[in-house]
Amino acid sequence: MKHLLSIESLSRDEILAILDLAHVMKTTRGCHEKHPLRHQCWALMFSKSSTRTRVSFEVGIRELGGDVFFLAADDIQLGRGEPIEDTARVMGRMCHGAVIRTFAQQDVETFARYSGIATVNALTDGEHPCQILADLYTVTEACGGYAGKVVTFIGDGACNVPLSWVWAASKLDFELRIAAPRQYQPDPAVVARAFPSGKGGPGTYENAKGGRLVITDDLDGACRNADVLYTDVWVSMGKEKEAEYRKAQLAKYQINERAVGLAKPGVLIMHCLPAYRGLEITSSIFDAHADTIFTQAENRLHAQKAILTMLAAG
Ligand code: CP
Ligand code: NVA
Repeated sequence: MKHLLSIESLSRDEILAILDLAHVMKTTRGCHEKHPLRHQCWALMFSKSSTRTRVSFEVGIRELGGDVFFLAADDIQLGRGEPIEDTARVMGRMCHGAVIRTFAQQDVETFARYSGIATVNALTDGEHPCQILADLYTVTEACGGYAGKVVTFIGDGACNVPLSWVWAASKLDFELRIAAPRQYQPDPAVVARAFPSGKGGPGTYENAKGGRLVITDDLDGACRNADVLYTDVWVSMGKEKEAEYRKAQLAKYQINERAVGLAKPGVLIMHCLPAYRGLEITSSIFDAHADTIFTQAENRLHAQKAILTMLAAG
């Protein structure tokens, strides 16, 4: 594996290999025999805020024997308009790998092409692949596997996290339901690429691999008998000017007692974090499921070490 740019560009086998290796990383933490990033120096280049992704990559790279430094995009010439192609060519001559958080998906792809070094998408407006790989591992760990499970995403169904979930559902045998008002449902063009049997609007999509996708504004229907209820912020980074409008439009699409009551008994409650209690999830549901949610956050470290190890192997 040369880069980790999207779930879209991963094969099913690569996803499964990452999940298996994440488990090895978790169970052998502190006593790894191999240090695949030894003598390597990795750059983290972020144009947006981050706690979990930044910390897990910094810790993970060091635990795998590598060195790492952080660049806020505004502190380097990129922030003053130097083209991403030129930045990439410089980094490619000095570093062994780069982890990039930015706005346009195209920018991480351009960086990968021009730098020639291993490049990881640490979140763009289009995808958050590292998050969803860690989430799949969390579901596997908590539920004994993801196959045949129903994962219901509630909230802003058009942002990076649910879009990466759509790609995961297109490659693996589980059912993804996205409950969101029409305006916040996934881009039909992306859905049509992931599930070519349909046109991409609201509806039900299936493929021969056992993947199933339901896009609906029917919140109750989407929650009914779900194994997992998942949410993300209503106001993603870069959308701050729309905050009040989004809060009004998405008000109903919350993980609360009613949603949990409709789901399977023992439903797994997940949140990629940061969480805004009282908006996308109630405070009481968050607190009752905090152990799962923070295990989900911890699993970012183990999954990312798996990704880095696979990138080091080429
Ligand atoms: N979930 C996630 O990516 O968190 P950060 O924005 O804190 O990295
Ligand atoms: N959709 C959110 C994810 C945060 C980890 C955002 O892009 O801000």
